[in-house]
Amino acid sequence: MPNPPAPYPASRPRRPRKTAARRAMVRENTLCAGDFIWPVFVQEGDDTATPIASMPGVARLTIDRLVEAAREAAGLGIPAICLFPYIEQDLKTEDCADAWSADNLVNRAIRAIKAAVPQIEIMTDVALDPYNINGHDGFVVDGQIVNDETVEALVKMALAQAEAGADIIGPSDMMDGRIGAIRTALEAAGHRDVMIMSYAAKYASAFYGPFRDAVGASGALRGDKNTYQMDPANSDEALRLVARDLAEGADMVMVKPGMAYLDICRRVKDEFAAPTFAYQVSGEYAMLTGAAERGWLDGDKVMLESLMAFKRAGCDGILTYFAPAAARLLAG
Ligand code: PBG
Repeated sequence: MPNPPAPYPASRPRRPRKTAARRAMVRENTLCAGDFIWPVFVQEGDDTATPIASMPGVARLTIDRLVEAAREAAGLGIPAICLFPYIEQDLKTEDCADAWSADNLVNRAIRAIKAAVPQIEIMTDVALDPYNINGHDGFVVDGQIVNDETVEALVKMALAQAEAGADIIGPSDMMDGRIGAIRTALEAAGHRDVMIMSYAAKYASAFYGPFRDAVGASGALRGDKNTYQMDPANSDEALRLVARDLAEGADMVMVKPGMAYLDICRRVKDEFAAPTFAYQVSGEYAMLTGAAERGWLDGDKVMLESLMAFKRAGCDGILTYFAPAAARLLAG
């Protein structure tokens, strides 16, 4: 600790809080549209938005609508969007082959957005769950989620996304060794400028419930993800995973979920001083918007307060479904 403040009345900590101008002068953190990555859900079809019941205000968009949304986001100063596909039931298989098809839904969306809104960065999700008949992020063999075979598939998936024009690859699967394998493959294919945002400390969380509805994976999921996602009881383990992923070639690391894991964000930032992001996940969004809809909370205020908490915890940015609404509010 620096020197303790002088005792009252020499020190009156209320003095700098007296006016809005003084509060602005001593404010330690700021929030702006540039802090946000906006996760969006994409589906097949034309000119359609399908609302997601458990995420009020969020809808799955067809590619044409998504391009318009990306244009709006770029206009608001949001630097990146992150694509999550709703895969039709008949494309979900045990071998997950659609995940690395050059013309799958995500890769067509990437090309369409790149052509129309080149200034926005496109992040992708690398995990097998939307394509997997089992709803798991990895291949299931004899009831086990197998690591190394899954990593081979993830590499194919990441390469197809980079080929389509993805700027940031986001492995969210929590298999071991995937960051290094993807980085090596990207280098070999000449994709030297493609970034990797590792979901490094991703917990086995019940806060993902509404997301699994949004991508149509909740019905499919057999069992839980506890053999690959982290135990919410652990903290030191997050530091070991972040260290490993940075060493394997991640440009940025993520903690997920967000609000219940701000202690992890702070430890990661302090330990590594690397670009650190948090994912304010679907369940966090549902909690805040659900309470606001009932009039129990002021929706705008808790939105901005929750986002500022990530900055205070040391995050450089936040993946949040609030991105456009928050950017609009911040623009005044
Ligand atoms: C899947 C994935 C999940 C989320 C992002 N990628 C769900 C899961 O791990 O089951 C959750 C995002 C959210 O809840 O908003 N690999």
